[in-house]
Amino acid sequence: MASLTIRKLDEGVKTYLRLRSARNRRSVEEEVRIILGELIQGHEEPLTPMAAPPDHAPAPVSQRTGAVPEASVTLIIGGGIAAYKSLDLIRRLKERRIEVRCVLTQAAQQFVTPLAVSALSHERVYTDLFDPQSEFDAGHIRLARDCDLIVVAPATADLMAKMANGHADDLASAILLATNRKILLAPAMNPLMWNNAATRRNVTQLQRDGVVLIGPNSGEMAEAGEAGVGRMSEAIEIATAAERLLRPPVPKPLAGKRVLITAGPTHEPIDPVRYIANRSSGKQGFAIAAAAQAAGAEVILVSGPVDLDDPAGVTVKHVESARQMLEQVQAALPADIAIFAAAVADWRVANEGEQKLKKTSAGMPPLQLVENPDILATISKLTEKRPPLVIGFAAETEHLIDNAKSKLARKGCDWIVANDVSPATGVMGGDRNTVHLISRKNGEKDGEIAVDSWPVMSKEQVAIELVAHVAKSVTGKSLEPAS
Ligand SMILES: Cc1cc2nc3c(=O)[nH]c(=O)nc-3n(C[C@H](O)[C@H](O)[C@H](O)COP(=O)(O)O)c2cc1C
Repeated sequence: MASLTIRKLDEGVKTYLRLRSARNRRSVEEEVRIILGELIQGHEEPLTPMAAPPDHAPAPVSQRTGAVPEASVTLIIGGGIAAYKSLDLIRRLKERRIEVRCVLTQAAQQFVTPLAVSALSHERVYTDLFDPQSEFDAGHIRLARDCDLIVVAPATADLMAKMANGHADDLASAILLATNRKILLAPAMNPLMWNNAATRRNVTQLQRDGVVLIGPNSGEMAEAGEAGVGRMSEAIEIATAAERLLRPPVPKPLAGKRVLITAGPTHEPIDPVRYIANRSSGKQGFAIAAAAQAAGAEVILVSGPVDLDDPAGVTVKHVESARQMLEQVQAALPADIAIFAAAVADWRVANEGEQKLKKTSAGMPPLQLVENPDILATISKLTEKRPPLVIGFAAETEHLIDNAKSKLARKGCDWIVANDVSPATGVMGGDRNTVHLISRKNGEKDGEIAVDSWPVMSKEQVAIELVAHVAKSVTGKSLEPAS
């Protein structure tokens, strides 16, 4: 099977993967695996005639669990008295929806049985480097890489010495040497072993190598009358540390910021039952509201009539017409950031009928149009309560960039997100969007206009990317978890 080097992907794909994995709190590799899994599941024809897997080969993860797991761990259990706690650790990891495949050293099997470990993990247990069945497809390499994290608990003094010196003379040490995954060690040993100069050197070396340690804690030892630092961390502490490495907390760069967003079309009444509208679905604005909320912002979404559920955690004001939308926007100020993604009708009917207009022999009723308030220009030109960052959308069917640049100047906003909405693009009402972010270089009022063209993306991806740009501009913070 070919291996994929994320580093070699093009920048657009990398950005997408990074943002998607950050949003889903997964590693980039896991995200790729899930995307491929979804693709394969959505594939209607058999992909290739597959040879039956050898009966020792573990079934694909989705078959093993009946659901796509969120993360997987290879748990190496070393030969220490604390090995019994690893049985609880398996349970703790699994209740966090982390798949666990276990490897037992020879010494570990003196303390816990492969049968108990297998029963708890619901997986085959691995014990031998020279196992012809596992090595049919380089089992130790798979155990080393076909996971998101390796946990060693208990990490014996012996295993740490082997790791620090690059030994690979049994399955556990070979996996630890062959992996490119993060390693979490939960050392457990007698305090004298822990404080021994050799162990101290090994710990220092392992930390330099990027290995993460949890514990040991201090307390009573299994040996009667002995106490000190050397007790393995509790299973729950190890599981929490593993989860933190697997799913780093999602950063909230817009925490404390108030973001005002408009979305959808407006309906301009002709009479009590008819209206003038446009084809905007509101999907882009709703996606931006959800992304801003996920980034920690307090979000107020003023929406025209749409067929979408309100995004969770967002305050939504539902309106019909442009004038109602302006009212709600003004009522929502002050805000730190305003993003006007609604497709506001430029005109409304001046002579709106109080009753339903009737067909008469006199011919069609004349509809007089009058200009609607320009929400983007009104808010951009406020002297008081103007949000520090005002972003407009320019939906154009021709001369996209030129029209968007002149809109930026005309409306007095800070950025324009320009998108081509000509019918052939399917953007209006569709799920994908191709946008260009138009802004002044260095944010200067009269600075040169910069155009940043993004690849075609789903509206959710456009939203995440836009929110990432906003966060960077407003707070200097990134949406990505610290690695
Ligand atoms: C009863 C007993 C308890 C042990 N407990 C520990 C321990 O807690 N930590 C440790 O590092 N070694 C402990 N050892 C020593 C290891 O089992 C020994 O170093 C073994 O070679 C480790 O193998 P492994 O690192 O491949 O699992 C213990 C040995 C015995 C007999």
